[in-house]
Amino acid sequence: MSDFLEVVRTRRSVRTYTDQPLDSEQVIALLKPVLVAPTSKGKDSVEFIVVDNKEILERLSVVKPRFGTLIAGAALAVVVCGRMDVSDVWIEDAAIAASTLLLSSENLNLGACWVQIRERNQADGTPAALAVKEMFNLETYQEPLCVVAIGHKGQHPAPHDMDNVKWERVRIVE
Ligand SMILES: Cc1cc2nc3c(=O)[nH]c(=O)nc-3n(C[C@H](O)[C@H](O)[C@H](O)COP(=O)(O)O)c2cc1C
Repeated sequence: MSDFLEVVRTRRSVRTYTDQPLDSEQVIALLKPVLVAPTSKGKDSVEFIVVDNKEILERLSVVKPRFGTLIAGAALAVVVCGRMDVSDVWIEDAAIAASTLLLSSENLNLGACWVQIRERNQADGTPAALAVKEMFNLETYQEPLCVVAIGHKGQHPAPHDMDNVKWERVRIVE
């Protein structure tokens, strides 16, 4: 349990990465926890596109102006897609998977950042999701929620202060 708390405490959004690539064992270790994350009715409505090709990472980084450019510097990007044909709550399923991937990254001492795609636009005002779907030849029912950029940490944001969490966000009903 203390390991879990340490991962939660130290996980921060890391937006710069070193040039060191990830090896295949690291990629497998990253994804295993994600593939057992909960999905509604156990329908496994989430699919993942894993990219380490620098040219594709560059192209992916311009899909989301400004807040997506960090993808270009990552060693790996995982496009988290929901299957709309499989589940009516694919967004929730995909968000849990992406969140698990962030924690899995920190567990391996890798830096990661969620880049939102759903409901975000490209520079020309067209949906970022459309560009991602075209880039990877996705089916109409495969919907990208976000890209999780991952790499060896190039910055070390301060861990969360667990003694000063915002308890005012919690209402206890007796
Ligand atoms: C739904 C969601 C969308 C996000 N989108 C982006 C994004 O597009 N680009 C980015 O740099 N960070 C993005 N983030 C990261 C948040 O900015 C970050 O989690 C938040 O500021 C808290 O900081 P921390 O992750 O270091 O605790 C996103 C996070 C979530 C949960």
